[in-house]
Amino acid sequence: MRILLFTGKGGVGKTTLAAATAVAVAGRGRKTLVVSTDPAHSLGDAFGLLLTGEPTEVDTCLHAVQVDSRSLVDSVWQDLRGQLRSAFAGAGIDSLDAEELTVLPGVDEVLALTEVQRLAENGPWDTVVVDCGPTAETLRLLALPEALSGYLGKLFGRGRRWGGVSDSVRRLGAHLESLRVLLTDPTITTVRLVLTPERVVVAEARRTLSSLALRGIKVDGLIANRLMPAPGIWRGSAAAWLRARRNQQNEVLAELAAAGLGPDVVRPVEHRAVEPVGLAALLEIADELYGGANPLVGRGKGVTPLLEVSEVDGGYRLRVALPLGRDTPLDLARVDDDLAITVDGFRRLIALPALLRSCHITGAESDAEGLLVSLAPDGGLR
Ligand SMILES: Nc1ncnc2c1ncn2[C@@H]1O[C@H](COP(=O)(O)OP(=O)(O)OP(=O)(O)O)[C@@H](O)[C@H]1O
Ligand SMILES: [Mg+2]
Repeated sequence: MRILLFTGKGGVGKTTLAAATAVAVAGRGRKTLVVSTDPAHSLGDAFGLLLTGEPTEVDTCLHAVQVDSRSLVDSVWQDLRGQLRSAFAGAGIDSLDAEELTVLPGVDEVLALTEVQRLAENGPWDTVVVDCGPTAETLRLLALPEALSGYLGKLFGRGRRWGGVSDSVRRLGAHLESLRVLLTDPTITTVRLVLTPERVVVAEARRTLSSLALRGIKVDGLIANRLMPAPGIWRGSAAAWLRARRNQQNEVLAELAAAGLGPDVVRPVEHRAVEPVGLAALLEIADELYGGANPLVGRGKGVTPLLEVSEVDGGYRLRVALPLGRDTPLDLARVDDDLAITVDGFRRLIALPALLRSCHITGAESDAEGLLVSLAPDGGLR
């Protein structure tokens, strides 16, 4: 099974391109489910249909779902919250604190992802295409399984320290871990980043790529949507306007290419005169996007974090492969056996290979390929 996640800034065309991709994948005879986790119900609008929380048939081999995370919050989370509260109380945390602790951030996002996982694992689908919310929310959503399971692990000592912790907490931890495994398996889950060719998006795209790489989530293509049609031989002020606009967009594409995101990674889609709504219009977009090729085949070498250890004189060098912009804010710290890497406000704990756990950091530098950390053995217990 494959899962394709579509993300990008608000309004860039995520829903339209996710729907178009799903239409194209289904057109190749693969049982396809397209899911929207975005609370604005625009996936139904793209098909011109009313969607619900259960798969609705849209075309041969194609079903669509609108996940309603608010109602999931109400039904599933209330129950879990009650169980968590008694688990906290059982662990000696007083009831007022327990009440605060159970208001975990981003619960509805986790539930939306959980619902995607449920649908993916319980249906006949070969491919699940997910129309995610805007980038910031998606990043938060994709970080949550790890953050939350780490949080629970710390509170409950990963189930060892608190003998009496209820099964529900253990189950929640295991569930979040299974979500993380699903999202970070590059043979299953990949992300397509949608952008419009405007100057501000280049820096933002780089940031998103770093953050996703930091999470271990593979991006296998970018889509530049709403490219002005080439004005051809037309004359007059409208043609001059089009030409100027397109030239500016071309400059942005060139800037992306200079940042390593060239035409081998970025697929263009032209701005249509009419909103692409309905199967025929979506199929036309898909043809422009994939040109009859298999939409599941990604572009570029993909971006996954990679730890590589090499021995150098008297110590080790650890390479963390991360696409970094020239001035991406970066912070590095050692937290127990983990390396805490913070890129542009997003933090990730990366478990150090066993060999390096008795070492201390002696220096770090970054280049376009990522981060290079120097470590030296402690020479005894610290
Ligand atoms: N290539 C295009 N040409 C013309 N109109 C487009 C194109 N792509 C998207 N649109 C239109 O732009 C609007 C926004 O697109 P869409 O809903 O897909 O964006 P989105 O990124 O999902 O937005 P949101 O962040 O609000 O979820 C829609 O009305 C859609 O029909
Ligand atoms: Mg949308």
